[in-house]
Amino acid sequence: MTNDATPGRIVVDAGSLAHPTFTALPPLALYIHIPWCLKKCPYCDFNSHEVHGEAPEAKYVDALLADLEFALPSIWGRKVVSVFMGGGTPSLFSAAAIDRLLGGVRARVPLLPDAEITLEANPGTFERQKFADFYAAGVNRLSLGVQSFDPAQLKALGRVHDADEAKRAAEAALIIFGNVNIDLMYGLPRQSVVEARADLAAALAFAPPHLSFYHLTLEPNTLFHRYPPPLPDDDTAADIEDAVHATLDAAGYQHYETSAYAKPGRQCAHNANYWRFGDYLGIGAGAHSKLSFADRIVRQLRWKQPKQYLEQVAHARPLQEEVEVARGDVGFEFMLNALRLTAGVPTALFAERTGYALSLVAGGIDAATRRGLLEPDPTRLAPTELGRRFLNDLQALFLNTPMSAPARTRNAPEVAPLVRIEATGIER
Ligand SMILES: C[S@@+](CC[C@H](N)C(=O)[O-])C[C@H]1O[C@@H](n2cnc3c(N)ncnc32)[C@H](O)[C@@H]1O
Ligand code: SF4
Repeated sequence: MTNDATPGRIVVDAGSLAHPTFTALPPLALYIHIPWCLKKCPYCDFNSHEVHGEAPEAKYVDALLADLEFALPSIWGRKVVSVFMGGGTPSLFSAAAIDRLLGGVRARVPLLPDAEITLEANPGTFERQKFADFYAAGVNRLSLGVQSFDPAQLKALGRVHDADEAKRAAEAALIIFGNVNIDLMYGLPRQSVVEARADLAAALAFAPPHLSFYHLTLEPNTLFHRYPPPLPDDDTAADIEDAVHATLDAAGYQHYETSAYAKPGRQCAHNANYWRFGDYLGIGAGAHSKLSFADRIVRQLRWKQPKQYLEQVAHARPLQEEVEVARGDVGFEFMLNALRLTAGVPTALFAERTGYALSLVAGGIDAATRRGLLEPDPTRLAPTELGRRFLNDLQALFLNTPMSAPARTRNAPEVAPLVRIEATGIER
């Protein structure tokens, strides 16, 4: 608290309060996690499980809708700006199940009329009629996990589909949905710059409005971590990034976020909401939520194992954990997200989305600007070119406790190294 010039009048500085104060709550997105896949890929540490026989889709859709009902008191009166069905492989579910799910969502929460509704799909589950039925059910954006169009790489990555299936799925997705993202990974086993360029050219032949490019990372608890494949060295990976960036730039794509490229006006609204520190309700196994209330921000985690999730929802207990975001963490969490955006965010967004004054992160801003990692523009919080190259170092300056010797990242993986953001629907 500080005293201003008027005697007896106390002015409250939001930055000195132990709790945030919101004048308006952030936009709210809905994430729905579907945790099954045809086969577990050897590099993947998502909450995804190989399906044995049929996925229990009817039971799971019932549980998701029960879970949503349980969450309603936390989001009363709020409109949902986007829906993202992520996984796992949501396209494993029948179109009838997705139709029932979206119908159930609409009956329980108000969706904005132009809400972006994305479904993640694996080309191994592609059927033209099924894609058309997903569209008829209300899905208006498809995110296709292709990873590579190179037949040898698809084998090395243990994918269930071949290059032709990936091409057929991409072609049909563009005709049916128009609004399509293709996920590609680079830095693949033994990949050269020439091969990575060829992969990109294969993707560009479809001219998708959105492309996600992820540097393959060896995640703990994956087969690739235990038996690492021969990956290209850092210099080759950096050369691939530069080649990808230049090619996509020339093709009219904007590199708007660390791993995301879009044609003008085609950025992913759902992910943009995460990066601008919007709110999200995550339902389904292992889903994460971040919800703001007038005087607090909470994070929730739902039961991770699908079987356990189904059992707990049946007992009206979908939450495994709920914690209030501490004042000491919120500045870092905001910057961790916002600094992934090439253009950054308006400075005023910090107070609007965290409920605290900018003074909470003044030390970090000062240090980052002095090191040339943050633009010196007081109206924006935006990384410089150097800041984007050393994103981990930049983000670490906003930690409460300084991190020792942060590693260099040219293109940080979608999951930031310090905080796991899983099952939130980020196309990573
Ligand atoms: C949940 S998957 C959704 C797509 C769908 N399940 C599929 O793979 O076809 C999201 C994306 O994360 C990326 N991904 C998964 N594991 C990764 C890793 N270890 N390193 C980099 N990207 C990874 C892949 O590009 C994948 O498409
Ligand atoms: S990459 Fe996609 S298909 Fe493969 S295991 Fe992970 S979620 Fe499933």
